[in-house]
Amino acid sequence: MKHTKVIEVLQSDQLLQPVTIKGWVRSFRNDRFIAVNDGSTINNIQCVIEDNTINQEIVDRINIGAAIAVSGTLVESEGKGQRVEIQVSAIEIEGDANPEEVKKTILSPKRHSLEKLREQAHLRVRTNTFGAIMRLRSKLSYAVHDYFQKNDFHYVHTPIITGSDAEGAGEAFKVTNMDLNNIPKDENGNIDHSKDFFGRETNLTVSGQLEGETYAIGLGQIYTFGPTFRAENSNTSRHLAEFWMIEPEIAFCDLDGNMDLAEDFIKYVIQYVLDNCQDDLAFLENRLVQEDKQKPQAERSEMLLRDKLRFVLDNNFKRVSYTEAIEILKNSKPNKKKKFKYPIEEWGADLQSEHERYLVEKHFKCPVILFDYPANIKAFYMRLNEDGKTVRAMDILFPGIGEIVGGSQREERLEVLQEKMAALDIPEEDLWWYLDTRRFGTCTHSGFGLGFERLVLFVTGMSNIRDVIPYPRTPLSAEF
Ligand code: 4AD
Ligand code: MG
Repeated sequence: MKHTKVIEVLQSDQLLQPVTIKGWVRSFRNDRFIAVNDGSTINNIQCVIEDNTINQEIVDRINIGAAIAVSGTLVESEGKGQRVEIQVSAIEIEGDANPEEVKKTILSPKRHSLEKLREQAHLRVRTNTFGAIMRLRSKLSYAVHDYFQKNDFHYVHTPIITGSDAEGAGEAFKVTNMDLNNIPKDENGNIDHSKDFFGRETNLTVSGQLEGETYAIGLGQIYTFGPTFRAENSNTSRHLAEFWMIEPEIAFCDLDGNMDLAEDFIKYVIQYVLDNCQDDLAFLENRLVQEDKQKPQAERSEMLLRDKLRFVLDNNFKRVSYTEAIEILKNSKPNKKKKFKYPIEEWGADLQSEHERYLVEKHFKCPVILFDYPANIKAFYMRLNEDGKTVRAMDILFPGIGEIVGGSQREERLEVLQEKMAALDIPEEDLWWYLDTRRFGTCTHSGFGLGFERLVLFVTGMSNIRDVIPYPRTPLSAEF
């Protein structure tokens, strides 16, 4: 039987017409009122059974969680908050859900903590909150492609398995097909990678940037959008071992152009969800309002979710050099009583998330682009400034999130890059192909990486990154 999506039925003005929907039972009251959700929208459709129209055997199987097909007539609803409902003429049960078993899961109709939902990550998409988050995630992905495709960027699929560690932070997961109980070693006791699948040491990509650069030097402007892996042991609400990153790379573009692109891009995708995901945003906003009511006044958010998104659209991101930021931080405290856990004492210190969040949330009170960082706290490929000690790096900091984007203008001068690599003990033979971009038609170029889950966190107002990806990968947790 052909069926219609609930989202279409709810918007339909075809009253008194026959309709069939298929979905999962969210609630069933008085043996009459079934609320069905099919994932197409946060809203359920109410299906009303008139007395004795449906066989009692079927009625008994209408349990929360069951998959059902409902046919009937679309009629105006007298219920609150719904325009239409289905007057039921037939019900088919496609998949039962045993109520005793359901009670033991998060499908049971009561408030479950987010921690509890994480333990049943395979079922949590059937809750309103996760339905809304995952639809928003999907729409945001679409908006990412939409933005770059409309602006003539080419989508490049950089490899997942690579021989390079772009960020040089030693956080790469190794890839091997060798028998771990019997690893071949050479006479010095070092692992003999010539016996490995690829004949060399390889790892999962920590960033598609280096390969992306080689493609920008040819296609002009490209972007990647794919999974990225980091074995950093940071068990925080902002880090995943597997996350998705968007990395544009643009030839003939300097750091200012890179900042303009990042700001324009972020604003575009936020505007896109404001225009296209009203119901889900309204639901998540209300969820936050309810959550706030449980908190002491001082901890409540100052802005509603959608106002927070509009605020980003309406304000220019504040561009501040690292040096200016350090001056501000040296003379600041997060609040009257407390000092920073890591007080900033001198120029050259790396910023912690407490500093980043102070700058954004307390000092500037808007998104901030920090640029021109000390060379020795940033990756090797960033362009050295004339001062010889800072590089053309930029990080974008967001309220509630901290760093959402990391990027830079790249070092396009072969000799300078070679010197930098030598100083960091990065062997040229490992990156000969990367250096070739500087040998054959090198040019000014720039790019950045945006952590997709951090964007989803911001847009949904959720506070833990584990709740914005279907199956989070974090230290000691990869069950599903
Ligand atoms: O600042 P990062 O390390 O920059 C790079 O990887 C560059 N190669 C990007 C480029 O220029 N093409 O990472 C970029 C962004 C961060 O700002 C953050 O949003 C996100 O990726 N990110 C993570 N997100 C979730 N979990 C983690 N473990 C993350 N590490 C980085
Ligand atoms: Mg970074």
